[in-house]
Amino acid sequence: MRDYILLYINGEEQRITAAQAFQPASDYLRLDLGKCGTKVVCAEGDCGACSVMIGRLDGSGEKLDYVPVNSCIQYLYQLDCSHLITVEGLKIEGQLNPVQQSMVDHNGAQCGYCTPGFVIAMCGLANDLKCPSSNGTADCQKLGREKFASGQKLTEELVKDSLTGNLCRCTGYEAIINAGMAMDIERFKPFASLYNEAEIIANLKAHASQELLLEVDGCKAFNPTSLASANRFLADNEKVVIVSGGTDVSVNMNKRGLAPKAIMSTSALPGLDDLSLVETPEGRVMSIGARVTLRQLERAIKDLVPEFYDILWVYGSPQIRHAGTLAGNIANGSPIADSPPFLFVMDAEVEVTGLDGVRRIAMADFYTGYKTLSLKKDELITRIFLPLPKAEEILRLYKVSRRQHLDISAFTAAIRITVKDNKIAAARVIFGGVGPVVKSVPEVEKALLGKPHELATYEAAGKVAREVIAPITDVRASRDYRLALAENIMTKFFYESAAEDKERSLVCR
Ligand SMILES: Cc1cc2nc3c(=O)[nH]c(=O)nc-3n(C[C@H](O)[C@H](O)[C@H](O)COP(=O)(O)OP(=O)(O)OC[C@H]3O[C@@H](n4cnc5c(N)ncnc54)[C@H](O)[C@@H]3O)c2cc1C
Ligand code: FES
Ligand code: FES
Repeated sequence: MRDYILLYINGEEQRITAAQAFQPASDYLRLDLGKCGTKVVCAEGDCGACSVMIGRLDGSGEKLDYVPVNSCIQYLYQLDCSHLITVEGLKIEGQLNPVQQSMVDHNGAQCGYCTPGFVIAMCGLANDLKCPSSNGTADCQKLGREKFASGQKLTEELVKDSLTGNLCRCTGYEAIINAGMAMDIERFKPFASLYNEAEIIANLKAHASQELLLEVDGCKAFNPTSLASANRFLADNEKVVIVSGGTDVSVNMNKRGLAPKAIMSTSALPGLDDLSLVETPEGRVMSIGARVTLRQLERAIKDLVPEFYDILWVYGSPQIRHAGTLAGNIANGSPIADSPPFLFVMDAEVEVTGLDGVRRIAMADFYTGYKTLSLKKDELITRIFLPLPKAEEILRLYKVSRRQHLDISAFTAAIRITVKDNKIAAARVIFGGVGPVVKSVPEVEKALLGKPHELATYEAAGKVAREVIAPITDVRASRDYRLALAENIMTKFFYESAAEDKERSLVCR
């Protein structure tokens, strides 16, 4: 059992003991190491000022996969056995790297407070484009990672997408986006080539197989390397907080006074980072390990379920999606979380593992009340089985929020319909944000079943929706607004599916 965290920061080995380990990486960088290039503004993952690159061993254990994350919501024990690159570590042989140079050339900073975060986010994009094989070539292709062609110009859309997690209060975004579009990708050196990677990887690998237990002032942090030992820790300790990406847990620790006595990270658990497609007699099912990040899922699902890809595209920011997991989003139990409506409507199942073995729980049975789950004390989520929609089904997913990116939903809906001979042969309707849990609305489904697939049916079903839900007014939306959304979403669904039909028939002709 190891009692120190092994971390590399800009190529230098750090061994961090318990006294220092219970803090966010951003504090450690700034306060313990004096690396103040990494800034902290919001301390809750919203502004990107604290962005750093984190390199973790990929599935093969032979490479480090570098992605940008928010260091204010990454506690050190989550980062065991990884390589952090901060803004201080970006120069190449003492010279600004092409991203930094482009920010200078295009006057991308005034006060400069946000600048390190923007530079890291753009380096994340450049590294991703330059280093498509960082997950292993086959995997990258499977995950739909785009390849960068030599001489290719970066589009405004691509740059903006990579910067949705970064806020600037004084420069104005135009100069920053121009800097991003003009960065010289040809000259950008992937992170893997900047440091002595072979030596770093060998050391990380030697440590990664050892369990980590840190204890200070009655608080424990545990990184198990087997499910059996994870289940035993959960059983033996009271109120253990499981942490995967930490994008919920760490915000609660930074801002809402969560101070767990026992915390268990899933980061070293084997076998939970795989993502595969399984053929079953009922159709194709995606098997998603509990450590698969939302970003990996986004890439894998892009062509398979574009509807869900669109939801993930507006989910948090790249930094949040590079850390957060689907398992964490489900276990968070929020009625306005973005993935549960889709998982519900597709009748997904959650695999949980405990001391008594493995069992599967239907999404519909997973929540027992507001933020309460049907998990036993010793169990954790290990996988999600997601049936994919069939060609004849019409699926639409809705997220209503005040702004497009980086916002919490006020209302969500998932609608899945099968139409045969212009009659509705199957109907599933799920709403989020209208009660303590994400829920199906059988009354609305009943109002659709067997009826003609026409506007009047959906208008009538919308009226039923308004009758059977009882949303509350809160900071995100009023009760009346949510009632109106639930009613109107039904007709919106009809108009959109009719437009899709028209598009399809135009294509056929
Ligand atoms: C800036 C910002 C933007 C966000 N935007 C969105 C958004 O657009 N849409 C949205 O839905 N959410 C959003 N979130 C919330 C959060 O990112 C998601 O809920 C995310 O999916 C959580 O995953 P995680 O791995 O980080 O979970 P963690 O924070 O690690 O854990 C979340 C919860 O799940 C539990 N848990 C984690 N893993 C397991 C497991 N394997 N078994 C059992 N329990 C487990 C934890 O104990 C905790 O209760 C946002 C958060 C931030 C900070
Ligand atoms: S300080 Fe704002 S995201 Fe970390
Ligand atoms: S330059 Fe001041 S916040 Fe961006």
